[in-house]
Amino acid sequence: MCGIVGYVGDRSAAPFLIDGLKRLEYRGYDSAGIAVYDGEKTEVVKREGRLSRLEESLNGNFTKGFLGIGHTRWATHGKPSDINAHPHTDCSGNIIVVHNGIIENYQEIREWLKERGHRFRTEVDTEVIPHLIEEYYQGDLVSAVQKTLEWIRGSFALGILSGEEPDKIIAVRKDSPLVVGLGNGENYIASDIPAILEHTRKVYILKDGHMAVVKKDRVDLMDFKGRKVEQEVFDVKWDAVAAEKSGYPHFMLKEIHEQPRALKDTMTGRIDPERGDIRLDEITIKAEDLENIDKIFIVACGTAYHAGIVGKHAIERLTRIPVEVDIASEFRYRDPMVDDRTIVIIISQSGETADTLAALRESKKRGARIIAITNVVGSSVSREAEDVLYTWAGPEIAVASTKAYSTQLVSLYMLALKMALEKGTVDREEAVEIMREMKQLPEKAQRIIGGEQKIKELAYQYSKWDDVFFIGRGLDYAVALEGSLKLKEISYIHAEAYPAGELKHGTLALITEGIPVISLVTQEQLYEKTLSNIKEVEAREATVIAVAMEGDENIAKNANHVIYIPRTIPFLTPVLTVIPLQLFAYYAAVARGCDVDKPRNLAKSVTVE
Ligand code: F6R
Repeated sequence: MCGIVGYVGDRSAAPFLIDGLKRLEYRGYDSAGIAVYDGEKTEVVKREGRLSRLEESLNGNFTKGFLGIGHTRWATHGKPSDINAHPHTDCSGNIIVVHNGIIENYQEIREWLKERGHRFRTEVDTEVIPHLIEEYYQGDLVSAVQKTLEWIRGSFALGILSGEEPDKIIAVRKDSPLVVGLGNGENYIASDIPAILEHTRKVYILKDGHMAVVKKDRVDLMDFKGRKVEQEVFDVKWDAVAAEKSGYPHFMLKEIHEQPRALKDTMTGRIDPERGDIRLDEITIKAEDLENIDKIFIVACGTAYHAGIVGKHAIERLTRIPVEVDIASEFRYRDPMVDDRTIVIIISQSGETADTLAALRESKKRGARIIAITNVVGSSVSREAEDVLYTWAGPEIAVASTKAYSTQLVSLYMLALKMALEKGTVDREEAVEIMREMKQLPEKAQRIIGGEQKIKELAYQYSKWDDVFFIGRGLDYAVALEGSLKLKEISYIHAEAYPAGELKHGTLALITEGIPVISLVTQEQLYEKTLSNIKEVEAREATVIAVAMEGDENIAKNANHVIYIPRTIPFLTPVLTVIPLQLFAYYAAVARGCDVDKPRNLAKSVTVE
């Protein structure tokens, strides 16, 4: 996730761009840059780090010019650095592009362009775009862009300008947001409304597959083939604070809703069911390395630790290598049996958690090979691990982790599949089936989010309770742990997660009349067993709120309420099951009047031990 802005009009573009980027910094902040056409040439200034570094280097000496584009980056391909920051240019420096998203097939395009004499300056996928436009340019920027769009695959929102045609910005949207703002004698583009809200409340929210030619006094909307399209102007009624959250009341709800997109991005270009292949360029581990491995550890904290528990199931099942999951703050003080025959998988959204980082260093000292799963390119964890698998969730602002967790899960599934395919412990047919199902997860996640009203009502109804229990077996237990953490950290309701079969060994004493027991029953092979445990709490007159697979009518006879999730293979259900639990926690916290995005006593990134 990155932020894009653009300006065409009669005022100086640079201050507008900097101001717009400030309002988009929540979308990414590892580097920033602007390009302004000054009447003769386009000047590009870009810096690694926060936007303030770019501002410092400009030192108030803004390039004079009335046409410009800007970008704030959240790195995917290529580490954060001055050179990798956007905007990117072609060989001549004439065609300038800012991009939010991922170009899946950039490598094949890059090879083709290299053969035709193009020289690349960066490792960034985006850089192929200005070069491809340059290759196709024959005096008409719009048609060169359209030809480029025929070849590039992936998700992209683009802002494009050229010194050859300095009266316009071209805006393109496919699977990444982009709006066009309509001003008075000037027009704008932006990834999100807050960037331009001070200047206009009239916008076109571009549709997927559409582009706009934005000039100072007109905007033409068309599809990628150049056919004119009509669209109504959207009148923004939000205030500035709501606009930053795209109209959502909290970042947490926004981030829950972003999960279909985040899941899709994280899998984009990496899963190929047609070829039965998993492509994780960043993971260099090979069959020979896996032969020399006795054991895998997964080490993390909090929500990331919960993702690790699901990862253990996935890796053991597919690779038959034993996996231990450890809480980072415990791991380093228990003299763990880690040596050069061990892989340690470190999971951390921020990549800066002190306990996790210390566990990474301890494992490295003992000779282990480190694979990191993190959301932040250039973070400490990513710098210190040998191999890094990035979740492409975009910045997570709410303290309670949601989209980082679900993207960590799909990353672990991809890693497990990759290792199993290398090792030959999964047959290709099964791998293909898993990949096909994984590809459907974003759409299924979207369906759950579409049905959130029922979850909201349940959360409001049960938010008055001081205790809530979560039960499940196998992978359902792993997700129950996460559901319970979400609920307690933001609503301050005391919540406990138990393996369903373990209740009778003590905790059943706490089950009293009416108490909510959220019961996860998505694992077919454990269905009967979990049902018996549900009957145990039902007999104590608890309120059973079941989370079950669509089509399971039997469960309705044994529960007070049922939340259904779309069917997938049991192995992948955690990615879906967690969503109703996130929503339940969110709405319970709202009902109790809690500060959802900033729960008491907690911080987003825990950099102390
Ligand atoms: C809970 C939550 C925390 C983090 C934990 C690790 O919602 O966000 O439990 O998961 O502090 O943080 P990272 O993943 O940044 O290492």
